[in-house]
Amino acid sequence: MYDVSKVIKGERVEFKEPDPKFYEAIGGEEGMKRLMYNFYDIIYESDIAHFFPQDREEFDEVKEKNTRFFIQICGGPEVYTEADGMNLNEYMVRLHDDFSITEKARYEWLGCMEEALREVDIPQELKDDFWAYLERFSKLTVNTFSDGSIYYAQFTASRD
Ligand code: HEM
Repeated sequence: MYDVSKVIKGERVEFKEPDPKFYEAIGGEEGMKRLMYNFYDIIYESDIAHFFPQDREEFDEVKEKNTRFFIQICGGPEVYTEADGMNLNEYMVRLHDDFSITEKARYEWLGCMEEALREVDIPQELKDDFWAYLERFSKLTVNTFSDGSIYYAQFTASRD
């Protein structure tokens, strides 16, 4: 797997939003849709499938919203409308508070994404840049620790 560093409870997490070149290289909205649909198909078969809706229609809805989020965060059009005026990244961190996400679940999530990225034929440095965003941002979604404690990460703004 690509590098994944450990989550340290309470640690400040800095991240940078993906380079728009990644979005262009993958083929814009259509390319992003392919990547994210493939990713969610992998999730559905993974050890973290139980986190997600088991109902196919609800699952498809999450898939759809997730795709729109990634289109927007990667520099495409502003098609993700659920944040309702709230900072998009902060909204996304807080949305995950509803789920008990462990380091292991994060690792599995990243593994599914790595698998989906294998199908994408773009320069490695653009994949690396996207990975750097995922690797860091995903730390903010972890809220359940091996000692049984729960800690909701403080949102930190992205670096320019
Ligand atoms: C880079 C890290 C991550 C990003 C950017 C991300 C992004 C998203 C997005 C955009 C959605 C859909 C939001 C909506 O409903 O409007 C979502 C939902 C969700 N994510 Fe993540 N996610 C990340 C990491 C994780 C990890 C590590 C897990 C671990 C299990 C996870 C579990 C979930 C679950 C359970 C849902 C909601 C499903 C439902 O609505 O029932 N996410 N995420």
